[in-house]
Formats: sequence, structure tokens, C-alpha cells
Amino acid sequence: MHRAAPVLTNKNTTIDIRFGEESFIAESERRLIPEDWEELYDYIKDKRNGYTVMAIGNVDTGKTGLITYLANKLFSDGKKVGIVDADTGQSDIGPPATIGLGTLEKPIIHLSEAKLVDAFFVGNVTPAGVLDRSITGTYRMVKEGKQRGYDVILIDTTGWVSDRWGRELKTMKYMTIEPDLVIFIEKYEDELLHLKRAITGLGASIFEVSSPPRLRIRSREERRNIRFNLFQREFQEAKEISIPLDSVGINYGFLGTGREPSKETKEVLMNILGPNLPYVEESEDALLLLTETKLSSTVINSLKLLLGKREIINVTKGDIRHLLVCFTDKEGHYLGLGIIIDFDQASRKLLVFTNTKEDLISNMQFGHIKVNLNGVEEGKFSPWMV
Ligand SMILES: Nc1ncnc2c1ncn2[C@@H]1O[C@H](COP(=O)(O)OP(=O)(O)OP(=O)(O)O)[C@@H](O)[C@H]1O
Ligand SMILES: [Mg+2]
Repeated sequence: MHRAAPVLTNKNTTIDIRFGEESFIAESERRLIPEDWEELYDYIKDKRNGYTVMAIGNVDTGKTGLITYLANKLFSDGKKVGIVDADTGQSDIGPPATIGLGTLEKPIIHLSEAKLVDAFFVGNVTPAGVLDRSITGTYRMVKEGKQRGYDVILIDTTGWVSDRWGRELKTMKYMTIEPDLVIFIEKYEDELLHLKRAITGLGASIFEVSSPPRLRIRSREERRNIRFNLFQREFQEAKEISIPLDSVGINYGFLGTGREPSKETKEVLMNILGPNLPYVEESEDALLLLTETKLSSTVINSLKLLLGKREIINVTKGDIRHLLVCFTDKEGHYLGLGIIIDFDQASRKLLVFTNTKEDLISNMQFGHIKVNLNGVEEGKFSPWMV
């Protein structure tokens, strides 16, 4: 995994840096810590009481570098600093698919060294399709940072700053979280004018800073590899546990939220599917059918009509296998991720590969990405697939 760290020294400083084999030092004629970063620090350094700062910038503009710089400076000035990592794809704090809350207990070189305090699972490695969860998660992590008494809370965000949904995401985040300060980090003037136009009329305080030179640009492949390492780390010491679905709360999914189908429902099902019914769960709004192979859309549509259900969810064991899930405790705090291995329909138990301590689990959330037991991503799906 390649990582770059800017170092700014005074003229007469001796630095001792130890590297692995492929590493190197590159000198830069231009400052890697732009002067306006220092001005920004001066502006926020005396803030207290959960002063919230949200950084907005395109991909690879140095958002995470800036947050790391500010967090370190605040920490060495004796401040309690919280960092909300709302970048679910390139998570530095907390595993991928989560929005992490971290704090500093020592100076750090990379944001990933911040101490994980809590996390919020959004279910996928991009906010696409789950903007509401990304906003709610960021809000909750900021709120928790305030409750924990951090002087300053820094929010790192994804680089999704364009198109209607990028605009929607950033605008709603601003409206929900109401940060005290929004930092715009731009490679060139007015790169983010459209977002400034979206929030300045609402009274936002904004601070514009430059993107440092010599940034490494990461390819999609490299980003996926970074996630692979993160998932691998998450499941390094995982083991199989068995979760009785009736003993946990369930979010983001239908499986485990229903009951035995009624006699009437069973009759309709038998008329259409024959006498050997698959595993079925019925809820007021939904019917979940776990079948060997997918049912045709004609069958699904007639079931919808005949049963008056808004949702007919048809999944196969193959759909469920390797699906990413998350466990929380009874206060909704993050415990760990899991990968579904199997579902035993007779006992309504899920077999899950996880690091999480079983006795703390109170709630489970279904993701919509698949990851195998070695941490390799196998595919993404729409939310609410199971
Ligand atoms: N001040 C800096 N000078 C030089 N390189 C930097 C600086 N800050 C960060 N970098 C390096 O540049 C790359 C991109 O920076 P960074 O991760 O901060 O950008 P980002 O905007 O957060 O990217 P993303 O959109 O992927 O979250 C990283 O490899 C990082 O180590
Ligand atoms: Mg980043």
C-alpha cells in the first residue's frame, strides 16, 4: 500500500526517517503545507465546545491530509479533537462501509492511526443510494463527539462534489449537521462554486484553502486495494458465530423481521408455487421468500397482486452468502462487521464470520456489498436486497 506524508521542516532541522524497501523521499520546491492551511489553523485553534468543521473537496485534493494536519496541531496545543470520517470508501477511521468517529491520543502521521471511538454502518462503500444513511451517520458521529466533550470536531468527507446527487449530499449534510465552519479545498479557483452557492445563502461560514501540490492520485484499482487491506484487517481474527434472528434487532433488511405466514397467505403461495413451500416470512408490508433459484417476475407480480403486499423479496442462499453485516450494542454503538456464511432456516439462525463478541450483540444491520472471508469484494447490490 503506497502512502505519502508531507514533512515541513525548518532550515536547520535534522530528520531521521526510516523506510521500507520501495520508499523514497521527494523534495518539493513548493510548500506541501500551504500557507492558508496555517491561517485556517489560527482561525480555529481557540475554538471549543464541539466546534464543528466540515471539509469539502474533490477527490485527491488533500482533504484527509488537511484534517490530519489540523488534528495534529490541535492535539499538540492540548485540545481534545474528534474526527468524523464520512468517507465510506476510503475509510481511515473505522472499516470501509462505515462512518467512523476517532480521536487523537498521540500525534499521528496518517489518519488511520486515530483511535476508533464509534462508527455508523451505511452498508456500502459509496454513499450512492444511501444518502440518508450517510447524512444520519455523520450527524450521529458529530453528536457523539459533542457529548464526549471534544473541543473541535473535524469532518472528512467523500470527494463526491458534483452532479445532482453530489450537490444533494453536501447540501443536506450542511443543513443537518450545521457545522460552524465549512472548508472548501480547491485545486483551482471556484472549482466548487456550485456548492458555495448552495450553502452561503443559508448563513454558512466558509474558509477557502488551497490543495497542496504533488498529491498522489489514486486509481480506482488502488482504492479497491486499500479497502481490501482494511477488510482483511477487520476479519483477521474473526471466527464463526451463530445469530438467532429472533434475538436481535434488524436494520436495512427484511430477513428476520417477519413471522410465519398466515393460513390465507400459505394457500395463495401453494396455489402458485406448489405444495412444497420454501422458507417464507410475512410482515404487514412484505413477504420474503428464500428459494433455491430466483422466481420469475411474473410470479412475483402475481404474488404482489394476490397478497396486497408492497414488497415481495425473493432471495436465494447465494444472495445471502458473503453479504456484509454490522453489529451494534444496545445503545446503537458499533461493535464490528460480519460476513454471512449461511442461514439455517429451520432454526432461523445466521452463521456469521466476525470478530464481534457475541454476548454484546443487540442489533444487526444488513449491508449491500459482498466480501469473501479473505476480504475480497465480490460485488455491490441495491440496498434492501434481503
Ligand atoms: N500536504 C500534502 N502534500 C503532499 N502530499 C499530500 C499532502 N496531503 C496528502 N498528501 C498525499 O496525497 C494523496 C491524496 O491526499 P488525501 O488523501 O489527503 O486527499 P483526499 O482529498 O482526502 O483524497 P480522497 O478523495 O481519496 O479522500 C495521499 O497519498 C496523501 O498521502
Ligand atoms: Mg480522503
